[in-house]
Amino acid sequence: MKQGKASKTAELSAMIRTLATKNKFGKLVFNDPYSRLFIGNKTRFIYILNRINSFFNPSFWCKGMNSVGYLLSLCRHRFIYDIMIQDLQIENTQFLIIGAGYDTSYLLLKDQIKSHKIIELDFPATQQRKKKILHKHFNETPNLYFYEIDLKQRSIRNTLNDSIFDKNLYTVIIIEGVLSYLTKPEIEELIKELSTISRKVKIIADYRKPELNEEKNTTAKTWTRSFSEYHEKYVSFYTEEEIDILLKNLNLSTEQNRDLLDLWITHEQLKPNKNLTDFGGIFVATNGI
Ligand SMILES: C[S@@+](CC[C@H](N)C(=O)[O-])C[C@H]1O[C@@H](n2cnc3c(N)ncnc32)[C@H](O)[C@@H]1O
Repeated sequence: MKQGKASKTAELSAMIRTLATKNKFGKLVFNDPYSRLFIGNKTRFIYILNRINSFFNPSFWCKGMNSVGYLLSLCRHRFIYDIMIQDLQIENTQFLIIGAGYDTSYLLLKDQIKSHKIIELDFPATQQRKKKILHKHFNETPNLYFYEIDLKQRSIRNTLNDSIFDKNLYTVIIIEGVLSYLTKPEIEELIKELSTISRKVKIIADYRKPELNEEKNTTAKTWTRSFSEYHEKYVSFYTEEEIDILLKNLNLSTEQNRDLLDLWITHEQLKPNKNLTDFGGIFVATNGI
């Protein structure tokens, strides 16, 4: 990430959700009319190229580089969004979205948000850009709160000190597309802290697998190289077993820990590219209270 610049990968995630919304297969996975607000000028160019491609080939998600990252990140987002919908049924739940970028869950779910709080954490530059865009398009955003953080520099507890965060409430913690930018010691420290941040927590986070980092995996290399160009490079990779051990050592109980590809194959129209196995995983863990 370039110092003081808003995240480009967060913009890319918004671009993927916009692309999906305009595509007959993509919108079956995720339909989001708000993501387009967050696409900046440079990303718009990539968006237009993809729109043209997806117009002539609606199942382009299953082929080439796009299939690796785009559809998996869409399926991952759908999976997390479904958990949010389910936990919105529980009164007073607070949602802590770490590295929220241009996540639009608040906008999509705002009519269902009553006694809940949505707390977003991210780098200052990314949050400031998001707040500016929200301010331009929406009169008010009740129950949505922003706190700036560099996860490499400051603890979440310190950041949320004196904030509206309530350590007595059930907290759903979402860390989507973020862990792979942190080192393993930073991740362990983060999950350890989150495991006791409130009385009852559910942590949902995705991670990258070691196979993605192998030289011979040319499809993955093309994908990860594009992120390095944005100065947002993947630095940590875990096997499913390593994640299980990490969670167990922190006294968290694992509700789910699965390959991202499992989330995809539920979408019948889109046949997965075989290069995708072991691209990444996602886990749901609770502190068991
Ligand atoms: C790939 S984007 C994902 C954004 C969002 N979660 C989504 O799925 O649309 C990664 C996000 O993590 C944030 N991030 C990465 N490293 C961070 C750090 N050290 N501190 C705070 N935020 C960070 C970036 O600013 C960016 O918004």
